[in-house]
Amino acid sequence: MQSPIGIFDSGIGGLTVANAIRQVMPHENLIYFGDTAHMPYGDKSAEAIKYYSLKIGKFLQEKGCKAIVIACNTASSLGYQDLKDFLGDDLPILNVIDPVVEFCSLQPQYHKIGVIATKATIKSDVYAKKLKIALPNIEVKSLATPLLAPMIEEGFFNNNISKTIINTYLSSAKLKKIDSLILACTHYPLIRKEINEFYQGKVDILNTATIVADDVKQKLEVLNLTNTSKEEPKHQFFVSDKTKAFETSTQLFFGDKINLTLKNIWDKV
Ligand code: DGL
Repeated sequence: MQSPIGIFDSGIGGLTVANAIRQVMPHENLIYFGDTAHMPYGDKSAEAIKYYSLKIGKFLQEKGCKAIVIACNTASSLGYQDLKDFLGDDLPILNVIDPVVEFCSLQPQYHKIGVIATKATIKSDVYAKKLKIALPNIEVKSLATPLLAPMIEEGFFNNNISKTIINTYLSSAKLKKIDSLILACTHYPLIRKEINEFYQGKVDILNTATIVADDVKQKLEVLNLTNTSKEEPKHQFFVSDKTKAFETSTQLFFGDKINLTLKNIWDKV
């Protein structure tokens, strides 16, 4: 129960999920892996994304994690099933897509849902497929927004550049008349405010990080894996390449008690 929860993403995006998990489960120890050397995942092939997911999953398993959260929509779209098959049933693997689809299925007021995500996530069509199964009458409008994750990773948000890029994407005819929008990339909660400003409160912008965190909490409780110790939690952060943006963001989310460890996991296994 005291073992850490493993969380990974291509970069800082998964920190939005890690931070939300920390809010709802303040006693859990976390191990985070940001694959900054391969960021962005959104432009990579399905094979590459699967390969990275397996390597990182194995690393987190070897670190003794009690569960792994794939805090990346791209890796959840393309690497989830492979990682589950690879690590077997002993280690719960959670993705960021199913909880959001489940959340939508409980919102009868949604009729036309927009999905913005990386090219790889949109190409996989996983949201549209899963939403259609859960809500057969729903209309799903998907748009690839490939500039957003690198833009955020570089620290460009809440400024004129991000505003112009966000407004250009959201003005797309594809997203016309949507009533709700899934931020289907874990980087996007960092620009949620700007997206909300664009829609002026007329579109329901899902807070995907908190939906996922609530789901992780519930799943760990069901599996009896919640940490009951009231000790101060210990968090560890690993990156495959040390970047300034990641360092600044981890500081922002987790205060000053963080140590970034550079970890090369690629020539092993
Ligand atoms: N944060 C990631 C996601 O949720 C991926 C961003 C990227 O590396 O392209 O899809």
